[in-house]
Amino acid sequence: MKDLHKIVAPLLEWYDGHARILPWREMPAPYRVWVSEIMLQQTRVEAVKPYFERFIQALPTIQDLAEAPEDKLLKLWEGLGYYNRVRNMQKAAKILVEKYQGEMPQDYDSILALPGIGSYTAGAIASIAFGMRRPAVDGNVLRVLSRLEKSYDDILKQSVRKHFEKEILEVIPGERAGDFNQSLIELGAIVCVPNGTPKCMECPLAKLCAAHADGVELELPKKTPPARRKMEDITVLVLVSDNKAALHKREEKGLLAGLYELPNLKGHRNREEVLTFVKEQGLSPIRIQELPPAKHIFSHIEWHMAGYAVKVEEPQNGNLRTKEFFFAEKEEMERKYSIPSAFSAYMRYFREKY
Ligand code: ADE
Repeated sequence: MKDLHKIVAPLLEWYDGHARILPWREMPAPYRVWVSEIMLQQTRVEAVKPYFERFIQALPTIQDLAEAPEDKLLKLWEGLGYYNRVRNMQKAAKILVEKYQGEMPQDYDSILALPGIGSYTAGAIASIAFGMRRPAVDGNVLRVLSRLEKSYDDILKQSVRKHFEKEILEVIPGERAGDFNQSLIELGAIVCVPNGTPKCMECPLAKLCAAHADGVELELPKKTPPARRKMEDITVLVLVSDNKAALHKREEKGLLAGLYELPNLKGHRNREEVLTFVKEQGLSPIRIQELPPAKHIFSHIEWHMAGYAVKVEEPQNGNLRTKEFFFAEKEEMERKYSIPSAFSAYMRYFREKY
């Protein structure tokens, strides 16, 4: 095992001069640290900032999060993706209200036991909010340490993460645990960057870095390539009646569970098939227009989308609710229904045209 004691002082000194000013750093209350770390798991800092501010304003306490209606919660998350993250946060918030008076407990194992909180997030909350000596090893830190030690171990393996967590635990300074963890994360985010050339000239650890000494920074870290994504063809419908478009609530399980979507069919369909489908829903099409294809990439699936806009007659009885769909106005869509960004190409068409 490596002795990392030498990195502590230069890292903290660098952090004091270079850390970005971020809203959750200025006021590192446990709830704020938690929300920010969950948002930052799949999203860049710059993109997270406005979401963070809006979320905290709408739901200022753990109790508010526990009690928020699901649609409101999903709306606040719209655009961040991986919606199970916020669903798990709400589950955890309910537990915190029931068991801990709505506060985050000052105990690492209790934090780690909460839904959606793994060793990284538990370590971040424990160290940044409570000053506890716990490691917070995320992808940034794994990259920094792999390069520093010139380790070719696969950073996607649990055993490799555990090994690095152990090394870090040995050296976390008692008086600045949170800053030390954040200095490693920050170094990975802005100096020892993941894409493109790392800025070794600016790195406080350059002299200690084994990968830099041998000029192999760009070979590291090692990751097993992810499994190939599954390709799915679908046909998305912008079904419009009286300036409203049809929405459908997805099933409560699986991809984008429980979110709202534009009606869609498996496979790429032609005009006739689409019109048949629309009529089967009890609607009367007036005209159909083909829209440009679009693509959306999820972590394990790729959607290749064909699209049609179909104008339908307003149903006789004014009932804009078929078995499958209901029609909503633009304004309602903005305010109430969380529509995943996978549909944004076709939602943009609806917004601009109607
Ligand atoms: N990425 C993940 N956690 C972070 C943090 N606390 N600060 C900056 N970037 C991060």
